[in-house]
Amino acid sequence: MSDDVPVIAVDGPVGAGKGAVCFRVAARLGFHLLDSGAIYRVLALASLRRGLNPGDSRPLARLAAGLDLHFERSECGDSLRVIFEGEEVGVLIRDERCGQRASTLAADASVRLAVLERQRAYRRPPGLVADGRDMGTVVFPDAPLKVFLTASVEERARRRHKQLVAKGFGVSLAHLLGEISQRDKRDQERPAAPLRPAGDAIVIDTTHHGIETVVEMVMDAIESRGLRRSRGRRQDLQSETDKCAR
Ligand code: C5P
Repeated sequence: MSDDVPVIAVDGPVGAGKGAVCFRVAARLGFHLLDSGAIYRVLALASLRRGLNPGDSRPLARLAAGLDLHFERSECGDSLRVIFEGEEVGVLIRDERCGQRASTLAADASVRLAVLERQRAYRRPPGLVADGRDMGTVVFPDAPLKVFLTASVEERARRRHKQLVAKGFGVSLAHLLGEISQRDKRDQERPAAPLRPAGDAIVIDTTHHGIETVVEMVMDAIESRGLRRSRGRRQDLQSETDKCAR
């Protein structure tokens, strides 16, 4: 049904710039946005609140299948609000404890299966930009454009540190470097949907590039595949953004 709706699948490790790039690309195209990491993070939060352990596979899969979770664009469309059981948890789930727990739960094949259809349901007209670890390999293997963003672990830790400090989380760079390396290793080595570029993905190393440069690289790839919307609509979107900036 939705197979003809274009998907831009963007995968990569933590701190590679996926979130910021996906947000901007989705806004420029007028496409929907899926932050699949937020689903695993909300599941992590829910499991901590319910006192479930990472090994409780069946209850975790049940919890994942029934999560009362939705995303809303903020009023000016400059961020995505994460609403879990009626509560805005966007900041709470960015805590590294949720990140680590999310990565542990995400290694469970039953949990991944339970969130698969939820993710696919985001594929709606006019198109979807999907941010995650297995968007191009498992969730949307037929995506007409797959991008894999990466960067050195030091640079990714530095970016993540900056983001967390800006959100008010106190964490040292050295500690974060260790946690990110551990999370990378777990995500890459798990048997269920390991983190790796799809065979037909464009790999972009963002270590020495700013967000806007990477956005342009992705937009060029979109353009070359004929996936871009008409110029008129893009101008409409631009004026909506301008309105918000005022
Ligand atoms: O992208 P983010 O850091 O928010 O993701 C948190 C964790 O969720 C990742 O470390 C990864 O283990 C897991 N994840 C996943 N598959 C996705 C998205 C996230 O396994 N598609």
